[in-house]
Amino acid sequence: MYSGLVTVAYVTASILFILSLGGLAHQETARRGNLYGIAGIVIAMAATLFHLGRSNVTATVVAIVLGALAGLIIAQKVVMTQMPQLVAMLHSFVGLAAVLVGFAGYLEPLVATAGAEHTIKLVEVYLGIFIGAVTFTGSVVACGKLHGSLTSKPVMLPGRHWLNLGILLLILVLGAFFLATASTALGVTLLIVMTLLALLLGVHLILAIGGADMPVVVSMLNSYSGWSAAAIGFLLQNDLLIVTGALVGSSGAILSYIMCKAMNRSFVRVILGGFGQSAPNASAATERPIQETSAAQVSEELLSAQSVIITPGYGMAVAQAQNAVSEICALLRDKGVPVRFAIHPVAGRLPGHMNVLLAEARVPYDIVFEMAEINADFAQTDVVLVIGANDTVNPSAAEDPHSPIAGMPVLEVWKARRVVILKRGLAAGYSGVENPLFHKDNARMLFGDARDMTEQLLAHLKV
Ligand code: TAP
Repeated sequence: MYSGLVTVAYVTASILFILSLGGLAHQETARRGNLYGIAGIVIAMAATLFHLGRSNVTATVVAIVLGALAGLIIAQKVVMTQMPQLVAMLHSFVGLAAVLVGFAGYLEPLVATAGAEHTIKLVEVYLGIFIGAVTFTGSVVACGKLHGSLTSKPVMLPGRHWLNLGILLLILVLGAFFLATASTALGVTLLIVMTLLALLLGVHLILAIGGADMPVVVSMLNSYSGWSAAAIGFLLQNDLLIVTGALVGSSGAILSYIMCKAMNRSFVRVILGGFGQSAPNASAATERPIQETSAAQVSEELLSAQSVIITPGYGMAVAQAQNAVSEICALLRDKGVPVRFAIHPVAGRLPGHMNVLLAEARVPYDIVFEMAEINADFAQTDVVLVIGANDTVNPSAAEDPHSPIAGMPVLEVWKARRVVILKRGLAAGYSGVENPLFHKDNARMLFGDARDMTEQLLAHLKV
């Protein structure tokens, strides 16, 4: 009867996780999605505790309390712009857990197996540890690159593809020996050697990928962590872990695909690495003049505009300017100026970064548009205000076939009658590629910190 109850709890938790993912797909339902997720995990943990023997409950409760405390402290300390590296770090924990559980599952199996069943179990152990180890070191390197403690440039050893292939082949050969051996001592030795090779592979694979591709890498590692959890779910014969791992694995893969499309990169080329090493195109762009404007002038242009689109980017996030931006929007709307927001899928540093900030600052959802919905409207717009965005509004993606970001869909802000770019200087964005937008005839640079300058704008608009 108890196992029946646990099964019901697991099914309920699985349904809640699916509802959670569905909810997180839209801003209006994201909060509900989070609540479903929380409810699912609480039910899953309660059922797991219920399922455990008495002797294991205390250790598990202590682990949960310690984990929850660490999570609380980290969540309090981390700022929004550091979220991608936090996510990468959390994936590394999933990878490490998969490695440890894999070893435990091999040394102390939950149930004795024989014949084909035993071979399947060994494959689960091997795969779980392999994916877990690659995820672990890959995520640590991704975290270091995003945090700036490791170079964001691709580190490419000569013959690196051969090196990767060689490691993979070696891992396959070791796997064959692992499946064939009846000796636990030899089995563990083979597992340890394979784990070291997989750890090395994780470092080497991710080091070769440039900073501009890191968002895709983090979401790909998210997917890997899901698959390693699913493999461990098979090993532990835990249906919930299999379902949850598959959900994380497939949603991470879908997100990677969406991001690759948004950056016009093929998934295989991202994995093979190398993007981001090309030197910024310092050609004619730097010599061409720019035209500067002031907060007073921009406020006048905004007030007399028939249509305004605001395109925020990483600079708005880092300056925490979203509240002033929201007030500017409300004030203009009160004065009868239609304002909308255009959001690029990879603006900022994490998926949905701008949406979260704007929602936090209480910008109404119905004036926030995705790139595909609003891109055609720039040509009929009076004033576009670019706040701390750079790569996502770079015309060279559309106009220069030799640009490293050629073909990446961008917000076509330069098509508006006037485009004002608010940033501190002429520095390049995340990809390190120069932006010819600043030199366009209809472009005006509004230099300053996004928060200071939006507050100044607000003061002028209020006059
Ligand atoms: P970016 O191209 O990164 O440009 C941001 C600009 O903000 C910089 O050029 C910088 O110029 C300016 N800035 C920085 N601090 C500022 C401040 N305090 N006040 C005003 N401006 C400030 O931003 P984007 O257009 O949002 O593009 C995002 C980039 O990040 C893309 O290349 C994307 O691939 C990458 N990325 C995205 C994600 C996801 S999933 N969204 C994750 C990781 C990386 P100044 O220094 O001159 O001010």
